[in-house]
Amino acid sequence: MSRLLPLSRAARLAGTTRVTLQLKIRSGELPSFDGMVSADDLLRLYPDIRLEEDGGFEQVMQIKERAFGKRVRERLLPSQEILSQRLYEQSAELADLRAHLQRYHAMMEAVRDRIREREAQPDMAALGEFLDAQLAEILGATAPNTLDVMDDMLRVMSAHVTLRPSGHDFFVEGADTLLESALKAGLAVNYGCSNGNCGLCKARVVSGEVRKVRPHDYVLSEAEKDLGYTLLCCHAAVSDLVVEALETGSAGDIPQQQIVARVKALQPLGDDMRLLHLQTPRNNRLRFLAGQSVTLTAGGASTQLSVASCPCDDRNLHFHVARDAQDDFARQVYDVLGPGDAVTVLGPWGEFVLRADSPRPILFVASEAGFAPIKGLVEHAMSLDRAERLHLYWHACGPSGHYLANLCRSWAEALDNFRYAAITAGDAQAVVDRLAQDHADLAAFDIYLAGPEAFVDGAVKALALQGFPAAQLVATAT
Ligand code: FES
Repeated sequence: MSRLLPLSRAARLAGTTRVTLQLKIRSGELPSFDGMVSADDLLRLYPDIRLEEDGGFEQVMQIKERAFGKRVRERLLPSQEILSQRLYEQSAELADLRAHLQRYHAMMEAVRDRIREREAQPDMAALGEFLDAQLAEILGATAPNTLDVMDDMLRVMSAHVTLRPSGHDFFVEGADTLLESALKAGLAVNYGCSNGNCGLCKARVVSGEVRKVRPHDYVLSEAEKDLGYTLLCCHAAVSDLVVEALETGSAGDIPQQQIVARVKALQPLGDDMRLLHLQTPRNNRLRFLAGQSVTLTAGGASTQLSVASCPCDDRNLHFHVARDAQDDFARQVYDVLGPGDAVTVLGPWGEFVLRADSPRPILFVASEAGFAPIKGLVEHAMSLDRAERLHLYWHACGPSGHYLANLCRSWAEALDNFRYAAITAGDAQAVVDRLAQDHADLAAFDIYLAGPEAFVDGAVKALALQGFPAAQLVATAT
């Protein structure tokens, strides 16, 4: 059998998503062996795989990069040290294979000589011909398997990490630490300071090799080092890893934090919406789950707002602030605050988070600025790459209500399993009617609903009247 590949790696090589491959496994198109797929089967399904033709995958990655606020190049290139270590590992593997090959070659030559000496004996001539034909075929196959070449390249550029006991997996790319990579993959691993002081990100490396890439003050005991413990926030992967790590089960596991952040930028999102971009100190970042909110205080005015950015970039926090002359905090954002000003962040709050292990497809329903927490959840769901279908409905009545429509359209263009619908009229009942009309199997979905209180209450009631299971509905008023 050809090389077996973990599903995430196979998806990268084929330039598709993990969900697409899962669907093919389920339909029987793609055989799987303990969660792995063979390179031959992958090539059979994707015969056009070429080294230079991974556009679909790159497009999806660029969308994620936009969400994570990092440049693609930074993601792609590991540090020189890690790169040379990975190249060394592969060279050692190659040298080992070459030595094996030479020994096999010598053995085949010896067998061929023995047969030649006995060609007069019955069957020996036929055996000799068979052997010659086999050797000619093997020696004639000079073109390397494209997938093997791509997989080797991928292994130099990134390392694959499997977490225990959950079985979740992710890739470590560029100069990212294990912690940053896990967060970018939408995984809620346990951590605190992000910079080597608290020890909360301690995890045990079961197999594979890690390397320290950031200094840390937290000291691991000799016993912990002997057992393979490492700090996820200060180490990167040299090789593929299996790691035992604690993952956050729910919003309740995350402690309340108070941080003084600074305004990094203020940017208009249409006429009546503004993006407030805060940056936390490097050594005091906000730990939260996508979809949660925080209390912001500036100039004596406070408000509670949903974080509209990804927890994977825990230094850069985005908020959507609607223009409102009656709201003291909105007045601060529109009339007072400027780059460098201090804003206190307290939180996180709320249970409006993704049920990451639910097997159901997802409907996201946002009304007006309820898009902010929904954006966080959509990006989280995209990072996890587990839901078969992600459909977003954004209800907004004003002319500039869909203030990030281009972003939503770019998601729909890049992802086969993502659909976007802008709804410009009607009330909560009308939106729920539209959901039912579009999805005869509505009860097969999980629904995440966010928007003004009246809209959310109306939609929850309308869904209940439709007989939609309450346990599959997560709603928040913004
Ligand atoms: S998160 Fe604090 S030491 Fe890693």
